[in-house]
Amino acid sequence: MLENRRILLIVAGGIAAVKAPDLIRRLRERGASVRCILTKAGAHFVTPLTLAALSGDKCYQDLFDLKDEAEMGHIRLSREADIILVAPATADIMAKMVAGQADDLATTALLATDKPVMIAPSMNVMMWTHPATQANLATLKSRDVRVVGPSAGDLACGEVGNGRMAEVPEIIAALTRFFQKTEGEGPLKGLRALVTSGPTHEPIDPVRYIANRSSGKQGHAVAVALAELGASVTLVAGPTQEADPDGVNVIHVETAKQMMKACSEALPCDIAVCAAAVADWSPEKALQKMKKEPGKTPSLTLSENPDILATLSQPGPTRPQLVVGFAAETENLIENAKAKRAKKKCDWVVANDVSPGSGAFGGDSNTVHLVTGTGVESWPTLRKRAVAERLAERIATSFQRQ
Ligand code: C5P
Repeated sequence: MLENRRILLIVAGGIAAVKAPDLIRRLRERGASVRCILTKAGAHFVTPLTLAALSGDKCYQDLFDLKDEAEMGHIRLSREADIILVAPATADIMAKMVAGQADDLATTALLATDKPVMIAPSMNVMMWTHPATQANLATLKSRDVRVVGPSAGDLACGEVGNGRMAEVPEIIAALTRFFQKTEGEGPLKGLRALVTSGPTHEPIDPVRYIANRSSGKQGHAVAVALAELGASVTLVAGPTQEADPDGVNVIHVETAKQMMKACSEALPCDIAVCAAAVADWSPEKALQKMKKEPGKTPSLTLSENPDILATLSQPGPTRPQLVVGFAAETENLIENAKAKRAKKKCDWVVANDVSPGSGAFGGDSNTVHLVTGTGVESWPTLRKRAVAERLAERIATSFQRQ
């Protein structure tokens, strides 16, 4: 998908600029051509010589370099690309893009372009969550700027939180998805998929809630993998730290009931993958914050939540052709998964071991078994992204057979 694509990479001034050389290498390996613009601040983190050597082209830096303006003006630079990728995109360059400021080569090219733009934000967590940055992000999205990442984790500044630039494979995947979408390609082209992901929060009172440890990593990765194969994906996400994947229609919900409603509204679809860890019960919500009273222990009255997977699996005109559930088990994994498949009437169950020490909850890897109507496939321990890709491939194969 990236073969012969022309990518104008703008490297702005953040520590994640050190990932630019690897990004260029991986893009070129896939047949893309990369031309770089390095901002003044970016040059503190990575040298123009490195970018020039790896991209096999000049590294453009100065708006007022007359030779370049004669040979390669900023307008041509911004037009002779299939996409402009800003990685890392700092809070500063995002703000300038919103304001339409054009005081250097990078911002001038961004203002002068008629090509799609993708940004990979990277900054300190407080800068990322600041209302100014979030408002800028919303404005950029409303102008159709694609966004990949950021993700949560350790930040170079020593703080922990959201703001790490997406890893190189994620950026490559987002670009691939972008080009696939523009060309309407992939084996799942023309199919609609619904994916649930993350935990649900069930309020006890206005300030407290019942939750679980689901990170949403696996469900979000499934949504991305299906979109990469050309499906048109709606992701119904509970509260997670995961960024909204680019190229996927994301609906944010909090409770199981809201998740059920959003899923029903997303029908009809061809494929449903229920990866969310939906709370089984919700408490009767107190209208005011419950007060601590000496000697009194409150009790919660719980009522059962709708089972989204079982509801979607019910036979009927809107039943997706393929419904896939997840079974997180700590013992008798396969037996329990088979029982779950029968009980919920879904087509496949992805059984994953969440016993202590498996690292599945919140971790990046997963050991799963795929239980279908014809047998059980045991997959090796894989990154959640790889599990998602393999599942999406299996789904594509099953649709091709039909
Ligand atoms: O019954 P259990 O929670 O173990 O089943 C897990 C599977 O069912 C997962 O696919 C999960 O997304 C789905 N589920 C659901 N709605 C619920 C409970 C579970 O969709 N209320």
